[in-house]
Amino acid sequence: MTVFSFTVVALLALACPSMAFDMGQSTRCVPIPDQMKICKDVGYSEMRLPNLLGHSNVELEVVPRSEDWRPLLQSGCHPQAQEFICSLIAPVCLDTFIQPCRNLCVAVRDSCAPVLACQGHAWPEVLNCDRFPAQEDTCLSPHPKLSHFPKDLPKPACQNCPEVVNSPAKKTVLDALCQHDFAVSAKLYRRRQPMGDPEFEIDGRVEFIRQGPLLPYDTRHLLQQWLLINLRCADTLVRPGRTQLYLLTGSVQHDGSVVLTRLFPWHKKDANITVATRKWRHHRC
Ligand SMILES: *[C@@H]1O[C@H](CO)[C@@H](O)[C@H](O)[C@H]1NC(C)=O
Repeated sequence: MTVFSFTVVALLALACPSMAFDMGQSTRCVPIPDQMKICKDVGYSEMRLPNLLGHSNVELEVVPRSEDWRPLLQSGCHPQAQEFICSLIAPVCLDTFIQPCRNLCVAVRDSCAPVLACQGHAWPEVLNCDRFPAQEDTCLSPHPKLSHFPKDLPKPACQNCPEVVNSPAKKTVLDALCQHDFAVSAKLYRRRQPMGDPEFEIDGRVEFIRQGPLLPYDTRHLLQQWLLINLRCADTLVRPGRTQLYLLTGSVQHDGSVVLTRLFPWHKKDANITVATRKWRHHRC
C-alpha cells in the first residue's frame, strides 16, 4: 500500500478546496477493479482512493457508483468523456492528484449535458465545472484534435420519441418513404441485464431501403448511438431480452443531426411493409 506524503496532501488541499474530500485520511493505490468496466480501458491500471468524489469503499461505493455513468459514456457524447469521468472516479495513481481542467469539464459538459438531460438527468453538482482548476499545466486538458466533431457527418441527437406505426397500410409506408430522407430496416436488441454492455444494440446488418445522406459504414453505429442517447424512447420500442425488427424512416437536419420520424415494427405477417418496400424501387412520389 502506498501512503500519500504530507506535501502532496497539502498541495491537494490548496488545489481543490471545494472537493468533498477528507484530507485527514491517507490515500492508497489499488488496481482498477475488473467490475469497474467504464474505467477498465482508460489507459492506466492503478487508481487512487478515496477518489475525487470522496468514495473509498470499492464494493459499496466506487464500483456501484461508477455504473451510474455508463449510459452517458456509452452514448459517445464526447471523445474525452471517459477520460474526464475516470479522472474523478478512478484518479490515476501518480504522486499527485491530476484534476480535470475547467475547460475540459466545459467541453464535456457542453456535449454531454444534453444527452444526460435526454436520459432524464440534470448535469450533477459534483461535475460543476467551477470546481476545477483553470490553469492548464497542472490538470487534465482537452485534447486539441478531439475538441471538434466533424460537423458534416450525420450524428444522432436527442429528440421526442418518433411515432410508432403498427400494422400500416402500404400507402402509409410509401408516403413515409417519400417524405423523409432515408429509410432502413434494423433489428433492435435490448439486453436483459446490461452488465457493462450497452443496454441497446443493433443486431446484425442494417438494410437500406432509401439511403439518402446516410453513410453505409456508419449507419449501424449511428442508430446504435441514437438508441443510447434516446434511452427513454428506446425503452418503449423493445422488451428486455428481445429483438424487434423495425423499418425506420428519418431525416438529416442542416446541422447534421439525424431525426427519426416514423418507426414501423416489422412483423413477419406484415405483408404491407414488405410489399411497400419492394414497390419503392419503381415508386414515384
Ligand atoms: C394492410 O393494409 C390494409 C389497407 O391497405 C389494411 O386494411 C390491413 O389491415 C393491413 N394489413 C396488416 C397486416 O397490417
